[in-house]
Amino acid sequence: MKTLFGKLADGTEIHRWSLDNGGTRMKVLSYGGIVQSLEVPDRHGRYANITLGFDRIEDYVDSSPYFGALIGRYGNRIGKGRFTLDGETHQLSVDDGENSLHGGLRGFDTAVWNVTPFTRGTDVGLHLSYTSADGEMGYPGTLTAKVTYTLTDQGDWRIDYEATTDRTTVVNLTSHVYWNLAGEGSGTIEDHELRLTASHFTPTDPGLIPTGELAPVDGTPFDFRESKPIGRDLRTGHPQLLAAKGYDHNWVLDKGITAAPKPIATLHDPSSGRTLEIATNEPGVQFYSGNFLDGTLVGPSGRTYRQGDALCLETQHYPDSPNHPSFPSTVLRPGETYRTTTIHTFHA
Ligand code: GLA
Repeated sequence: MKTLFGKLADGTEIHRWSLDNGGTRMKVLSYGGIVQSLEVPDRHGRYANITLGFDRIEDYVDSSPYFGALIGRYGNRIGKGRFTLDGETHQLSVDDGENSLHGGLRGFDTAVWNVTPFTRGTDVGLHLSYTSADGEMGYPGTLTAKVTYTLTDQGDWRIDYEATTDRTTVVNLTSHVYWNLAGEGSGTIEDHELRLTASHFTPTDPGLIPTGELAPVDGTPFDFRESKPIGRDLRTGHPQLLAAKGYDHNWVLDKGITAAPKPIATLHDPSSGRTLEIATNEPGVQFYSGNFLDGTLVGPSGRTYRQGDALCLETQHYPDSPNHPSFPSTVLRPGETYRTTTIHTFHA
C-alpha cells in the first residue's frame, strides 16, 4: 500500500509504502529508502515499532542522524574524503570534520529513490533504484544502485544491494536502521544482549578512521563472541571507547566474505523477549551504540531519544578501505556487478 508521506521543499512528493508479511510490518519511504517503522511482536504477541524514526518528512530532512536510511555511496568514513584509484586522486564531499562520512553531504540517505512493489511467490517487497551521476559527492562514475527489500513469509527482512558503474569507482552500501527491540522511545539499549562472531576489530584514530590494525577483541570490551549486555563494558574507560563516546567501530567478521549470507550477530532484549539475528555475506559490521543521540530528537512515540536509546549494526566492508590496500577491496569496475545481501530474522 502506498500513501503520500509529505513533500520536500521543492514540491517533490515523498511516498510511504507499507509491507506486511509473516508477522512483520514495515513502512518504507521513497526518501532515502528509509525504514520509517518496523513492527514485530514481543513474547506476548504485542506489536511495537522497534526502529527509531520520525512522523514527518521535515524532521528527516532537517535533523535525521541517518534514521533507517540507505547509506551510499560509501558506508562510514573515508579519511580526509580522499583516495587514489588507478593513479587518479578523488576529493569527496567532506561532512565529518576533515573526513567524508556516509557518502558525503548529500548521500543516498537524502536521495529520492524510485520505488516499485513486487510479489514473488509468498514474498512481498520493494525494488528501490537510484542513479548517482558521475562526480556526485566527488565519486567517479555513474553509479546505478538497486536495492531490494523483501519481507518473506517467515517475517524476515532481506536486503539485496546491487550496483554497476561506467567508470572505476568505490562502493560500500549499507542500511542505517537504529534498533531498540523494546520499542522506539522505550529508553536505553544497554540491557540488550549482543553477540558478534568477530575475533578482531579495526581500532580508529581520534577522527574514527581505522589505523589499519586488526586488533584482537580478546580481553577487551570489544569481545562480543559470547553474548553480553551492551552496557557491561561501556564504562570501562578503554581509550577506543572514550574516543568514540561508546562503541562506534567496525568488527572484522571471522567468516570473512562469503558467497552466501552467514549469521554474524544476535541481538536479544530480555524485557520484551524479542531477538534479531543478522546474516550477511559482507566481511564487516559497524556496531554503533547511539552515542550521538543527545536528547534533542523526539520520535513518533512522543518520547525523546537520548544517548544509547538505540543501536546500529551496519553490515559493510571496512571503513576507509580505499586508503588501506590490506583491507578487502571496495573497488568496482565497469562490467562488474556489486552484490551484497543482509538478512534480518526476528523472533520472540
Ligand atoms: C555511523 C558512524 C557514527 C555516526 C552514526 C550516525 O555509525 O560511524 O559515527 O555517524 O553513523 O550518527
